[in-house]
Amino acid sequence: MSLTLHPITPSFVAEVEGLDASVPMSDEDLHALEQAFWQYAVLILPEQHLSGQQHIDFARRLGPLETSIQAYRPGQKLRVSDEIADVSNLDEDNKVWGHDSRMRMFQMGNRLWHADSTFRHVPAYASLLYGRSVAPFGGHTEFADLRAAFDNLPAQRQSQLRGLIAEHSIFYSRAKLGFHDFSQEERDAMPPVPQVLVRKIPQTGRESLYLASHAGRILGMPEEEGKALLDTLTAHATQRQFVYTHRWRLNDLVIWDNRCTLHRGTAFDDLRWRRDFQRATVADVGNSCAA
Ligand code: OGA
Ligand code: MN
Repeated sequence: MSLTLHPITPSFVAEVEGLDASVPMSDEDLHALEQAFWQYAVLILPEQHLSGQQHIDFARRLGPLETSIQAYRPGQKLRVSDEIADVSNLDEDNKVWGHDSRMRMFQMGNRLWHADSTFRHVPAYASLLYGRSVAPFGGHTEFADLRAAFDNLPAQRQSQLRGLIAEHSIFYSRAKLGFHDFSQEERDAMPPVPQVLVRKIPQTGRESLYLASHAGRILGMPEEEGKALLDTLTAHATQRQFVYTHRWRLNDLVIWDNRCTLHRGTAFDDLRWRRDFQRATVADVGNSCAA
């Protein structure tokens, strides 16, 4: 089978036709998919019919998978395999979560602009998010192109930013929401990690900002100055001209490059509609400071 690309925007988002993610991918298709992924950064694969295992197997062709941080949650039963991040609004009994549930509060973090797992020493490379059931209104996912955002900065600003290092922690993003309900054990398991603020994507040579709600300070800067810089850059990068909004259809599989994009989920009536979204996440090759 050979795949066809339909660009949705000139250089950021493309739809992939002719790839069935439920069957083993040929090397030729993998090559074409990777080329498309590096060029665009967000790929939409409509009409996929995947079991959990097929979702995992497909994602693995792009590299080794992360295990979900939910797997670290002591005493909590998982609805899905630990190689899948459960980004649904469902509890372990498959019911819509409660208004005050901890999972709901924790996942409010997905409404902030972020890249996945930048709070891990080895952050995420690719995320593959699959819509098993979709809300009838809202619940879109927005993506921002951090390469375009970097290219659009004045040259002097670009050189000021190269070489800066940000400190990322899941507790920074959750604190922004007022969520502090973590045990000492959870805090100890995820200490803050450094990530570069500007990265070069090896496959294309393109430079990109590297931002996330998880970034809380810039090393060597007063905390206030670092936060102000991160806020300013995020506001710059998420201007309309850099953003694509994905309106989900049932059984869409969306793949994005966390090295050079931001994303966030938008609101929907999450106490009423089931939105069963599951994510397989491919790990990056190392910490971004080691590149
Ligand atoms: C994710 C995520 C947003 C959404 O799966 O990593 O941030 O719209 N999802 O569900
Ligand atoms: Mn995410």
